[in-house]
Amino acid sequence: MFVLTRKCCFKQNSKFPQNFQAWRHYANSAEELEKHRQKVMSKGLPKVKPITGVKHIFLIASGKGGVGKSTTAVNIATALKVLQPNKNVGLLDADVFGPTIPLMMNLNESPILNQDNLMEPLINYGVKCMSMGFLITESSAVIWRGLMVMQALDKLLRQVHWGSVDYLIIDTPPGTGDTHLSLVQNIPISGVVLVTTPQIAALNVTRRGAVMFQKLKVPIVGIIENMSYIKCPACSNKVHIFGSATQSIAEEFGISIMAHIPLKQKITDSMDKGVPIVISDPLSTEAEAYKNVGNSLIKFVNITANEL
Ligand SMILES: Nc1ncnc2c1ncn2[C@@H]1O[C@H](COP(=O)(O)OP(=O)(O)OP(=O)(O)O)[C@@H](O)[C@H]1O
Ligand SMILES: [Mg+2]
Repeated sequence: MFVLTRKCCFKQNSKFPQNFQAWRHYANSAEELEKHRQKVMSKGLPKVKPITGVKHIFLIASGKGGVGKSTTAVNIATALKVLQPNKNVGLLDADVFGPTIPLMMNLNESPILNQDNLMEPLINYGVKCMSMGFLITESSAVIWRGLMVMQALDKLLRQVHWGSVDYLIIDTPPGTGDTHLSLVQNIPISGVVLVTTPQIAALNVTRRGAVMFQKLKVPIVGIIENMSYIKCPACSNKVHIFGSATQSIAEEFGISIMAHIPLKQKITDSMDKGVPIVISDPLSTEAEAYKNVGNSLIKFVNITANEL
C-alpha cells in the first residue's frame, strides 16, 4: 500500500524523474540548481545597515573568556564620556547568555517602551546602556538556539531608542561565533579592540579572534593587555604572573598595545560595586590608561573620517 502511494505521488509530481536516464539529466542540472540556491542565499544574507542615530561603533572582543572584555568595555565607555562630556556614548551588552553590564554599570530596572514601541536605554554615568540582563531576571538562564540569539541581538540593536550616539561600545561574548559574525554582517563597525591577558593560553585564542576580524575586514584598532601584572604589596615591584607574550601577537598583526592594565583588587571591587574605576578613582593610573584608550579611539575615528 505504501509503495503504491509513493509511486503514485512520484508520477503526479513531474519534477521527480521516473527512470535512470531522467535521474542523470536531473543530476546534470544540479550545477544550475546550486547556482540558483546561491542566488537565493545571497538575497537572504543580512545587509549592513546603520543603527539610526549611531555614528561610530567599536567592538570589544577576544576569543578568550574571562580576560576582562566587559571590564574594559565599561571603562572605555565611561572614559569616553569623561573625555567628551558633550558627546553621547552608548554601551551595548551583546553577551546574551552571560550579561554582566547591568552589574558593572549598577543598572537593574526594566527599560520602558516609548510611543514608538522602542526601549529606552538605561543611563548611568552619562552612558546609555542596553543589555539582555535588563529584560530577564538575574537568576534566569537563557537557553536559545543560534537564530533566537540573532533575533534577540537585533532587538537590542534596533528596537532601542538610542537617540543620538557618537560612540557605541559593544561588549561581545567570548569566542568567535554567531554573535560576532552577526554584528559584523548587520551593522557598520568602525573597529575592534582586542582584550587579552599575556598568558600564552589566552593569546592563542585571542589570535583566532584577530584572524576572524581580519577575514571579516574589520579594522583592529589595537590590543589591551589586561591583568598585565600585579604590584607586590611589599616592594611595589611589578610581577608578571601571566607572562608577557602580548608583544608577539601585536607584532604578528601589526597592531599596537593600547594599554597594560594591572590585576588589581580595586578593579575587581569597582566592577562588583558597579562603579567603574574611571569614576571611582579617576586619578589612578588605571583610569588614566582607560582614558588613553578612549583618546586613541577618538583619534582613530578622526583619522578614518579624514581618509574618507
Ligand atoms: N584588571 C583587572 N584587575 C582585577 N580584576 C579584573 C581585572 N579585569 C577584570 N577583572 C575581573 O575579572 C573578572 C572577569 O572580567 P570580565 O567579566 O570583564 O571578563 P570577560 O572577558 O568579559 O568575561 P566573559 O568572557 O565571561 O564575558 C571580573 O570579576 C572582573 O571584575
Ligand atoms: Mg563579559
